[in-house]
Amino acid sequence: MKTRWYKDAVFYQIYPRSFCDSNGDGIGDIRGIISKLDYLKDLGINAVWLSPVYKSPNHDNGYDISDYRDINPEFGTLEDFKEMLDEMHKRGIRLVMDLVVNHTSDEHYWFRESRKSKDNPYRDYYIWRKGRGKDGKKPPNNWTSRFTGSAWKYDELTNEWYLHLFGEKQPDLNWDNPKVRQEVIDICNFWLKMGVDGFRCDVITYISKREGLPMGKFNPVMCGDEHFVLGPKIHEYLKLVNSESWSKFDTMIVGEAIGCKVGDAESLIAEDRNELDSVITFELMEVDMKMNFFPVKLNLPKFKKVISDWQNLPANCWNTLYYENHDQPRSVSRYGSNLLVYRKEIAKMLAVSLHFLRGTPYVYQGQEIGMTNIYLEEKEYIDIMATQIFSIIRKVFPPLMPLARWAMSKRARDHARTPMQWSAKPGCGFTTGKPWMKINPNHADINVESDLKNPNSILNFYKELISLRKGNAIIRDGSYKLHFPKHKSLFVYERALEGKSYIVICNFKEKTVHLNAVDLKARGAELVISNYKDAPKHFTDGQTLRPFEARVYLKNG
Ligand code: NOJ
Repeated sequence: MKTRWYKDAVFYQIYPRSFCDSNGDGIGDIRGIISKLDYLKDLGINAVWLSPVYKSPNHDNGYDISDYRDINPEFGTLEDFKEMLDEMHKRGIRLVMDLVVNHTSDEHYWFRESRKSKDNPYRDYYIWRKGRGKDGKKPPNNWTSRFTGSAWKYDELTNEWYLHLFGEKQPDLNWDNPKVRQEVIDICNFWLKMGVDGFRCDVITYISKREGLPMGKFNPVMCGDEHFVLGPKIHEYLKLVNSESWSKFDTMIVGEAIGCKVGDAESLIAEDRNELDSVITFELMEVDMKMNFFPVKLNLPKFKKVISDWQNLPANCWNTLYYENHDQPRSVSRYGSNLLVYRKEIAKMLAVSLHFLRGTPYVYQGQEIGMTNIYLEEKEYIDIMATQIFSIIRKVFPPLMPLARWAMSKRARDHARTPMQWSAKPGCGFTTGKPWMKINPNHADINVESDLKNPNSILNFYKELISLRKGNAIIRDGSYKLHFPKHKSLFVYERALEGKSYIVICNFKEKTVHLNAVDLKARGAELVISNYKDAPKHFTDGQTLRPFEARVYLKNG
């Protein structure tokens, strides 16, 4: 019988390559994670989402798996993994693994077999088609890869093309083949029997493609979505894996749901659907980001509306709350301004705005110390998304390069992947060797060691917030109400249960804002937490919020 343990959980996401390196090779590893488990316990989190540690040639840093039942030697061994799992469980921390089954690596045994001949038993594990045009030299349709360019790669050996909705070394699996579905079930059961507590299912909304793979509506960047986002058999396939695997263990299954709008969510996550427990929505990320890579100014009313729409899902749905992960820029850089002066206030205000919402919050490594984006020269970007964008623009229209560089300076996934800043030492306490990726020079000021010592640090603020959530019925089950929806600077909401409510007020702007708050009927309510030491201890009808100030009051009755 499944419990809903994740409703009382705060997750911490580990991107293993950049978390902690135990052997000086410059790459984070499992023993490094083990060495930091006491730190995580002390932070108060009780579940970890671990980005992929499976065998992989790393064209997309582990999101291209070549063996689902083994650990990438860079990270350690299966024995190390079991020890880590055991040590997590001893500390009351659950482990949710990444499950990447929309695609594999082209170095996976199945694909190496599949490409050999049209009658190979593994041929139908992937999506192969003849090309268009007389000589078949045009891709089978106009769908695009999420990393730019065509989603098809021609393979000379059999004169056919294979589909890859991400990099060309990430061929899409053919879920319409029952053998593929059985493989996925077996993989899940392999890890769940070992004691893993669930999965974060990578791009799970893409697994079912429309029959015939029709041409997509013209769109030079993201073409074909209408034929594979929440495709025709998605529910059938999720129900199958759920009944044959996930539901047999006490799991939490969260799906990365690109393209899933709030109106689609219920069909995937309502408890009686027996599909997923929750989804990672992109709607919030899209408010200030177009086509997944182009930054635009934040429109706060729209931002609040998206959050509120998701908060208002029916009671049998559960939310995933996040501002950061390994694919998103650092939230202080993204939503804040004037970081030299206000970085701490911004980080704490953002934490408040998220951690009082209904759902399971995720803290991405480094977010708890307010890590920022990094400045990179063009040649210093490593990630496939930025490098592909640069190479296509250089080829197709070089005058756009300055714009592309500007966009990547704000949006590249590299920003989230710089090594975790443990200390001010060279190597930032992450490694004693040469780090696989540039370390942010600001680790001299921004690091765990100094935050641990400072009672007013972002880290200590996170600890307070996380402990405040524990067993807190108002935060877990209370109703949600957005106040002042059109306000351009303030995000104000109320969470209420059985006559008590939290009033959460967050100033998202650098300027001081006055609010007539008489309608909130909260006069005298007591201050629970704030990122300014001298915030008024009791609620008054006139509220003056300083730059990036956050205040939470508890109202009785
Ligand atoms: C989403 C993952 O979060 C991202 O890092 C990856 O590149 C794509 N899916 C493809 O697996």
